Amino acid sequence: TGMFTFDPGFLATAACESKITFIDGDLGQLYYRGYPIEQLAEHSDYLESCYLLLNGELPTAQQKSDFDYMVLRHTMLHDQIHNFFRGFRRDAHPMAVMVGVVGALSAFYHDSLDINDPHHREVSAFRLIAKVPTIAAQAYRYSKGLPFSYPKAGLSYAENFLHMMFSTPVAEYKVNPVLAKALDRIFILHADHEQNASTSTVRLAGSSGANPFACIAAGIACLWGPSHGGANEAVLKMLDEIGSVENVPAFMEGVKNKTHKLMGFGHRVYKNMDPRAKIMKQTCDEVLNELGLHNDPKFKLAMELEKIALEDPYFIERKLYPNVDFYSGIVLSAIGIPVAMFTPIFALARTVGWIAHWTEMIADPGMKIGRPRQLYTGAQRRDYVQVDARR
Ligand code: CMC
Repeated sequence: TGMFTFDPGFLATAACESKITFIDGDLGQLYYRGYPIEQLAEHSDYLESCYLLLNGELPTAQQKSDFDYMVLRHTMLHDQIHNFFRGFRRDAHPMAVMVGVVGALSAFYHDSLDINDPHHREVSAFRLIAKVPTIAAQAYRYSKGLPFSYPKAGLSYAENFLHMMFSTPVAEYKVNPVLAKALDRIFILHADHEQNASTSTVRLAGSSGANPFACIAAGIACLWGPSHGGANEAVLKMLDEIGSVENVPAFMEGVKNKTHKLMGFGHRVYKNMDPRAKIMKQTCDEVLNELGLHNDPKFKLAMELEKIALEDPYFIERKLYPNVDFYSGIVLSAIGIPVAMFTPIFALARTVGWIAHWTEMIADPGMKIGRPRQLYTGAQRRDYVQVDARR
């Protein structure tokens, strides 16, 4: 392979050092700043986990309330930003709208774009974490023709998102604490996952010195793909297509013949159960019970698919297990979130992880522009041919 190591898809190359998140893929373990994901999902809340990811330590009570206040303060959008939404077709996918509108934030917040100033970096971090849910909710409201909504003081981050999505001037959304807790848990589980494709995209974009709003827009674009954040939407479409348990064997034949993938299964790093999937399955059970939907046919179908897949040699040999997105779509649907909003929800939750990685990289005095090399396999040197002499 000449001078360079050839590693397409980065199967064996570490591109950076990081202190943020650790995954043990063989054991199926995930830690944010050393804390097991199970403990955070059980005891923490999303904004506290954000503080942890960004600062390396859990906040004191005072730090926690200051942080919550700063996020709330930044949740509103400049009124002029609403013009951007109006420029999109109503039937646009909300991820298309998010890539555009989040990218446009750098046209509004010039006052915090000096990436070498730690205070600017911090303000940009607050702006992004606070505004991305508002943008996601407005993208949904625009698609429905609903008036734009505003965040409300006194609600948690997850409650505010539900309020911004669903409240109307004539009917305030009544927050069910079990559902809000489940959504908050989905946010925690998606908050970071070390050097996945979108985080690596954010790092690469940021390594040139681009501003954080532009970098996060790049991350959102990468996340959209069905192999990555788009998988949660793809899982629900797949469950709809399969329809019922009788059709599972035929579907599985198609998977083995490589006609289609079993979406929500497999992971580059986990060669064991994704610990997030375990928590998600339990949350799914809780939410469906709360809503009296324990006979939900999609949940039954998903459990049946999981059972069959885990016993099948095709999956055993390849170490394919359910990932975080296998059950998250069922939970989101039960909460009343439309399928097109699943990936925007992943994006809003992952924003903190992207920023934590971007900040870690920018603050590193040894940072270099990311510049992969290649193995050239094209034509050898040859001479230009005049157009009338070409055949
Ligand atoms: N269904 C069927 N076969 C699969 C699947 C699947 N979901 N995933 C991998 N395989 C097979 C693959 O065809 C290959 O088989 P073979 O050795 O015969 O060629 C083998 O397993 C190894 O897979 P790979 O594609 O080399 O693995 P990868 O690390 O490049 O891909 C992945 C990882 C997540 C892109 C892939 O497993 C996949 O496409 N899964 C479905 C999409 C999905 O659920 N993505 C969400 C990931 S978790 C949330 C996130 O982080 O975004």
